[in-house]
Amino acid sequence: MTNLTSTPGDDRSAGLEGGAETDGDRITSDRVLVTGATGRVGGPLVTDLLERSVTVRIASRDPTGARERFGETAEYVEFDLERPETWGAALADVDGLFLLFPPSVGVRPVREFVDAAERVGVDRIGYLSILGAEKLPILPPRRIENHIARTDLAATFLRASYFMQNLSGIHRPEIVGRDELFVPAGDGSLSFVDARDVAAVAATALTEPGHRNRAYDLTGPAALDFHEVAEVFSEVLARPITYADPSRLAFARHMYRRGVPHSLVAFMTVEYSVVRLGFSGRTTGDVEAVLGRPPRSLREFVSDEAETFQRDRERPTSTGVTHS
Ligand SMILES: NC(=O)c1ccc[n+]([C@@H]2O[C@H](COP(=O)([O-])OP(=O)(O)OC[C@H]3O[C@@H](n4cnc5c(N)ncnc54)[C@H](OP(=O)(O)O)[C@@H]3O)[C@@H](O)[C@H]2O)c1
Repeated sequence: MTNLTSTPGDDRSAGLEGGAETDGDRITSDRVLVTGATGRVGGPLVTDLLERSVTVRIASRDPTGARERFGETAEYVEFDLERPETWGAALADVDGLFLLFPPSVGVRPVREFVDAAERVGVDRIGYLSILGAEKLPILPPRRIENHIARTDLAATFLRASYFMQNLSGIHRPEIVGRDELFVPAGDGSLSFVDARDVAAVAATALTEPGHRNRAYDLTGPAALDFHEVAEVFSEVLARPITYADPSRLAFARHMYRRGVPHSLVAFMTVEYSVVRLGFSGRTTGDVEAVLGRPPRSLREFVSDEAETFQRDRERPTSTGVTHS
C-alpha cells in the first residue's frame, strides 16, 4: 500500500496498524454513490454497503434494470458519464463516491465528473484503478488518479490485478464449449484477484476510517500461470480443462470471429503479451491488511462459480453425439 500524501501529524496508517484515529480520518456521513453498480466490482460493492446499513445511491444508465436487481433498499439515479446533465441529481448530498472508468468512455468526462464531485462537496472517493498504474503515466487509469490527487477529495486508489471474473466472462465460451483456456499468456503468471475482494476493500475504504489518501495494490493470494489455472479448473470441475496457449494472432482472429469488439481484442492481446513477459505475477498483502482475512483463492472462485463453468449440454462432440 502507498500513502498518497504525508501531511505531518496525519496518521494515515491508523486504521490498518491499530493507531489512534485522527479527526481528519473520521467518516462524517454515510450516503455513497456507486457508479458501475451493475458491473463486476460495483455489484458486490452495493450488496456489501447495504449490509453495512449505508445509504447507497446506485448510478446507472438503466436505473430500472438496476432496481430490479438490487431491490427497494437502495436509491436509484439515471447516470451517464457522457451526459453531464445526469450528474447533478447523482451527486446531490453524496459523501462517498465509488468511481470506475468504463472502457468505452474517454478520460475527459471522468475528469470532469471528478471536478463536479469536488465542487458539490463530496468528501471521499474510491477509484477503481489497475495494478501498476503508478508506473504507467500515459494510460487512462493513472491520468485519472493524477487528476483525483490534485483535488480536495480524500482518495483511495484501488489498484486491482486481473479479475478472476474474466474467466467466467470473456473466456467462458471456450471453457464451457471446448474445455479450454484459450489465452495467449505463454508461461507467464498472473496474481488473479476476485472482484468480490476488490469490492470488499472499496466498501471498507468508503465507510471505515483509516483509508484516506492511500493506494492499495489488490491481488489474490498467489501468482499462477495458466497451466496451473487449468489444473485448478480440472480438479474443481472434475473434467479435464486444457490450456491452449494460442499464438497472439490465432487468439485475435478467434476473438474477432466471436464478435468481440476490436478495441477489446487489441487490449487483451497487449495485456497477455505483458503477462508472457513475466510482468504480472506480483502479489501483495493489501487485501488481507484491509479486510483482516486473506483474499479468495482461484480454487474458491472456480468452486463458487462451478455452475457457470458447466459444459454446454447440447455441444456436439467429434462423433456427432450431443451431451445429454
Ligand atoms: N477486468 C480486469 O481484470 C480489471 C482489472 C483491474 C481493473 N479493472 C478496471 O475495472 C473497470 C471496469 O470495472 P468492472 O469490471 O467492475 O465493470 P464492468 O463489469 O465491465 O461493467 C462496466 C460498468 O460501467 C458502467 N458504464 C458503462 N458505460 C458507462 C457510462 N457511459 N456512464 C456511466 N457508467 C457506465 C456500467 O454501468 P451501467 O450499464 O449500469 O450504466 C457497468 O456497471 C475498468 O476501469 C478496468 O480498467 C479491470
